[in-house]
This record gives sequence, structure tokens and C-alpha cells, in this order.
Amino acid sequence: MKVLILPDAQKAADRTAEVIAATVTARPDATLGLATGGTMEGVYEHLVTLGPDMSRSTTFNLDEYVGLSPDHPQSYRRFMQTHLFDPLGMPRKRTHLPRGDAPDPEAEARRYERAIADAGGIDLQLLGIGRNGHIGFNEPSSSLGSRCRIKTLTRATRDANSRFFASLDEVPRHAITMGIATILDARRVVLLATGSAKARAVADMVEGPISARCPASALQLHPAADIICDEAAAAEL
Ligand code: GLP
Repeated sequence: MKVLILPDAQKAADRTAEVIAATVTARPDATLGLATGGTMEGVYEHLVTLGPDMSRSTTFNLDEYVGLSPDHPQSYRRFMQTHLFDPLGMPRKRTHLPRGDAPDPEAEARRYERAIADAGGIDLQLLGIGRNGHIGFNEPSSSLGSRCRIKTLTRATRDANSRFFASLDEVPRHAITMGIATILDARRVVLLATGSAKARAVADMVEGPISARCPASALQLHPAADIICDEAAAAEL
């Protein structure tokens, strides 16, 4: 695990975008694992200005809320279309997210895991981190051997994400998410954490025991994991 600490959130996001751009420039047909959340907005904004040709890249997002259709304003599909796929003109058939409105979410999760494997796995997985140490929607207590499946969101995560919804009641209670083992299968992982609200989770991830209590700590097992932080998120290291 390598930790890179940059002075502020903007520089950390820019550096993350540069890693993605360099990856697809070196290998235009790379398969990328992508993330959502407020932290990623700056990454995608800078990536769009760098303007790499991603027309031959394939992408798989980490997760999607159960019950939201792709065109729901708060769906992660919509987030990705708005912040990255539409601005870069990426062909829809190359961009993948679980279907939140699938009639059988468990079957959808299994289908998604197979689709990642059938694509040859993920070359570069981008991650954010939740305040409680979650990655994707792998909440604390997630098995380190988990695969794509349904997770129940904790009240803390629903509270944190309620800022994107009209009220807490509208925040879905479940998500389809890649598992921790799915994430660890990626050939390279880059996690971006910014802001003081992430400082405890970053310290637990990097310096704590490998434990399901902090799902991101599983990245200590990964041979090529880069953590990019701003100074605020690194404050407790
Ligand atoms: C959600 C996503 C995670 C993301 C986390 C933190 O829960 N499923 O992938 O890392 O939010 O988001 P933010 O960047 O908004 O703090």
C-alpha cells in the first residue's frame, strides 16, 4: 500500500484523474472500475478536461442503489452519465452498472459479477471511502471474501448520503455492490480520500488491523494499492 499525501482536495482529485488518463492512454482497451460520491466529482471534472480517448475502454461501476431506475436523478447510472460518460461521449454499451430496478436484485448481482469476469477482470479500480471505512457499499462487517451481492446500508451511510436526496426517507435501504474480494481482484487499485471527515477511516484503513470492521483495511492485502489523500484526510496517520 502506497500513500500519497497532497496539500488539498483539488490536487488530490487532479492526481487521481491523471492516473486514470495515463492508464487509458497506455492501454486504450483497459477495463476500469469506477466509483461515485462527492469525492469523485472533482476527479471526473479534471478527467473530462484532460479528455483521454475512452471510446475503447470498458467500465464497471462499484455499486447501485436497489430500487432506483437508471434514469432516477439520484441513481449512480445518472451520476456517471452526467459527470463522465456523456461529457466524454462514451458508448453506453461499454459502460456497466448493476441495474437497481432489476426484478431479482440477487440474480442481478450474480450476473454483474460474471460480467466483470467475462470482460477479463478490472485493470484499474477507482475507490472512495465512506466515513465508516466502507468501500463500494461494503459496510462494516462485510466478509473480506465477498462477491457482488445485496448489502443493507447502515443508518450512518444513509445519513451521509441523504445530502443528495430530498430527505432521509428517500435514501434507499439496500444496494447492489461489488464485494471486497471482487475489488481485491482488480490488478491495480487507487483510493481517493479527502476532507477531515475521512481522517479516522483513512487511519484505520492504513494502520489498523485487517478487519471487517473497516472494510477498506482489506486493501492492505492488495499488491498494487495506491491511497491518494489530502492533508485533512491524512491528519490521523
Ligand atoms: C457512497 C459510495 C462509495 C463512496 C462513498 C463516499 O457510499 N457507495 O463508493 O466512496 O459514498 O462518498 P463521498 O465521496 O460522497 O464521501
